[in-house]
Amino acid sequence: VTVGTESPGGPAGSEPALFRRFPALRERLARVELGAGPTPVQPLTLPGGERFWVKRDDRSAPGYGGNKVRKLEFLLGEARRIGARRLITVGAAGSHHALATALYGRHAGFEVTLVLFPQPLTPHVREVLLADQALGAELRWARRMEAIPGAALLARLSHRRDRPMMIPAGGSSPIGSLGYVSAGLELAEQVVAGDLPVPHVIHLAAGTMGTAAGLAIGLALADLPTRIHAIRIASRLVTNERNLHRLVVGTSGILAAAGIPLPTPGALLDRIELSHGAIGAGYGQPTAEGRAAAATLRDHLALDATYTAKAAGAALQRIASAREECHLFWHTLSEAEPEISGAAPRDELPRALRRYLSGDDIPLDPSV
Ligand SMILES: Cc1ncc(COP(=O)(O)O)c(C=O)c1O
Repeated sequence: VTVGTESPGGPAGSEPALFRRFPALRERLARVELGAGPTPVQPLTLPGGERFWVKRDDRSAPGYGGNKVRKLEFLLGEARRIGARRLITVGAAGSHHALATALYGRHAGFEVTLVLFPQPLTPHVREVLLADQALGAELRWARRMEAIPGAALLARLSHRRDRPMMIPAGGSSPIGSLGYVSAGLELAEQVVAGDLPVPHVIHLAAGTMGTAAGLAIGLALADLPTRIHAIRIASRLVTNERNLHRLVVGTSGILAAAGIPLPTPGALLDRIELSHGAIGAGYGQPTAEGRAAAATLRDHLALDATYTAKAAGAALQRIASAREECHLFWHTLSEAEPEISGAAPRDELPRALRRYLSGDDIPLDPSV
């Protein structure tokens, strides 16, 4: 694999493309700045000669990047605006969203509660969990994904004095998805600047789908014809057309209320193809195609088994079968490990969590 020249990233502190395009939103939308401005785009050429572009959201923030940063800028802004003192969110044991919420939420002065459920335990999952704890987040454990709503409600009731703000899984509320509306506009600015051609299709890992939903809206606002290939890596209970529709409608609604004209939800959804063939045995279960993609791209992109390796596997298949098109792989995994120096665990790990880490927990049904 050979790598071409990367476009310059933006200067630290630059405002989101959404505000540049619609200045009136600066007053309407609260934001806590976390990112380092536009992330670079970079061409890669595979051994067979196929070329594709990478959007380096793995470098979306100087410390800990990935696709949670853009969402959290707006989510933390909203939490401050409504006077919340605690953030409560949910996810799988190795959730990058939970970790990013602990990291950036604590840094911004919030208490953070994470309600987590088991997934296949890997060294990466273990590291994420221990980082959550070291960052001073309160950790609560639900034995199965289905128990999450009840456990989250309990957390909310027991912390009601802190005026907690609930953040849905993956940070994929309409407000969180605005971060990816902005990212779609940012990509369009890079096209206009000549950093890359107009992509025919963007390939990305899809879980709670705030990334895909926001991007579809941002690309439409920018009048780009680019389509989105959203590669499902989580259960159909989470990653499905109905939830995607709801998210597109909710996110569009925020913009429409600010007087920004948008295509209909149906037209926005037409841009997104949700594909189901890459998940293999289930969420967090590695696949042969994912391993092969990670090996192919090893020298240039670090991929994880749960999200980005599976997405890259599906992307590389498409790239091989539609060589003439311009493909872009949106890299959603942080390049850097979070910095947690100075932070000290506040509480002991709950017993159920220690049991999970020791491998004695009931294994997750791989069909979920
Ligand atoms: C590395 C990575 N890629 C992709 C995703 C999926 O993004 P979304 O939940 O917005 O679909 C996630 C989060 O769940 C993630 O951590």
